Amino acid sequence: MKNILFASSECVPFIKTGGLADVVGSLPKYYNSKKYDVRVVLPKYDCMDQKWKEKMEYVEHFYIHIAGQDQYVGILKCVLDKIIFYFIDNEYYFGGHAPYEGDPKWNIEKFAFFSKAVLSILPVIEFRPDLIHCHDWQTGLVPVYLDNFRYLGEYYRGIKTIMTIHNLKFQGVWDTQTVQQITELPDYYFVPDKMEAYHDANLLKGGIVYADKVTTVSQTYAEEIKTPFYGEGLDGLMMARSNDLCGIVNGLDYNEYCPFKDKNIAKRFTVDTFKRNKVLNKLALQEELGLEKDSKVMLIGIVSRLTDQKGFDLIECIMDELCQDAVQIVVLGTGDPKYENMFRHFAWKYSGKVSANIFYSEELSHKIYAASDAFLMPSLFEPCGLSQLMSLRYGTLPIVRETGGLKDTVEPYNEYEKTGTGFSFQNYNAHEMLNIIRYAQSIFYDKKRDWNKIIERAMQQDFSWKNSAKQYEQLYESLLGK
Ligand code: ADP
Ligand code: GLC
Repeated sequence: MKNILFASSECVPFIKTGGLADVVGSLPKYYNSKKYDVRVVLPKYDCMDQKWKEKMEYVEHFYIHIAGQDQYVGILKCVLDKIIFYFIDNEYYFGGHAPYEGDPKWNIEKFAFFSKAVLSILPVIEFRPDLIHCHDWQTGLVPVYLDNFRYLGEYYRGIKTIMTIHNLKFQGVWDTQTVQQITELPDYYFVPDKMEAYHDANLLKGGIVYADKVTTVSQTYAEEIKTPFYGEGLDGLMMARSNDLCGIVNGLDYNEYCPFKDKNIAKRFTVDTFKRNKVLNKLALQEELGLEKDSKVMLIGIVSRLTDQKGFDLIECIMDELCQDAVQIVVLGTGDPKYENMFRHFAWKYSGKVSANIFYSEELSHKIYAASDAFLMPSLFEPCGLSQLMSLRYGTLPIVRETGGLKDTVEPYNEYEKTGTGFSFQNYNAHEMLNIIRYAQSIFYDKKRDWNKIIERAMQQDFSWKNSAKQYEQLYESLLGK
């Protein structure tokens, strides 16, 4: 039996701001439990739902030194679906209304504390991982501290690490002197072949340099980040580590996202019943959101963090033109006020046709995945993307830009060969996008049989974790042996 510890800043069902939480919360359940004891450690945020906080039991506490002070490290624990979750408790760092509240420097201190605490709790919880699987910049210091802790004694020697990049855009960067004061790591680590990048300290870079293997969440993104456009300044490093870098596409928790079991939606359906039943979800959603009730109109859904990563500049550019067509658009998202206000504006201007829901709601997201005919995701870059996988599962055809995981998971419709599961366009160009949306409309309105065949293929795709969990197991094996 091998021990694996996931370290992450978010994880469903406890706390989620994006797809990272979905991945960390579902993947551990899909490993071969005879071979791997996979546990997860995350911060205990004050903003977690009371329901979860009540399930946590106290294990132990002690103090560690960080940023010039002694800091309390409480350990809490909870078992869910047979997986053990540990929570690091410290109100000073993890109070507040959201996980990433505060300025960048504060977040760097918060997650430096978390990373050091992750390693410090191991002897106390009596779970010595053979491998620590780190996720994103917030845990970038884990491999670095591990290197540093090796000198403390035998215990920490030989623990392997994997750094999984869910989004290279966020790196945890601040000036070297401050980061050195916070982390209390020696000068040795603050040089260009270690944690320094462009004269600043870079936490993710530390993780990438010190991890035994580096992964990202789709094959295409693994290639893209070796180029300057997608490399976010670290393309040289990604090239240098390319022998240890691979892309493993994300899966979905097929129990959570399941059109025939979903309790959130008005009418459940399968690949055999969608023709009759899917439309009932559309009518229910139109009613709920005050859209014109029309079973025949093409409903386009968007569920997303509202950031420039997701291609909203393209949408802004053609929204007026698109709203002249026979379509309805429903948006669910929060983020950049620029995009929040843009959608509020269009919902006012095209009332009955556009619905802007500027908040976070798990329940409404499921209703949109189930009710829409198409799902728009024209990302500028997309490491993997889970929303398009959710859409495929609910027979909602994705319209995407061919980048990262979108390229790897959505096969564009080919009307001659009758293949494909969605629609895609190549260049980051608003009218190229509008053309493909209009092409999708033409199939939806004029070739209903073909449209339904695409839905069948979409719903029959398998993006459960089955395949990808196996690939992670193989990667673990390459480091730990069988
Ligand atoms: P990213 O991680 O870049 O945000 P993903 O597509 O990987 O993108 O994952 C986004 C996840 O967050 C999906 O599960 C999506 O349904 C969910 N999501 C995003 N915004 C909202 C929202 N406002 N309400 C509910 N769920 C949301
Ligand atoms: C990031 C990426 C998204 C990916 C998710 C989970 O938030 O933006 O593409 O699906 O992480 O890996």
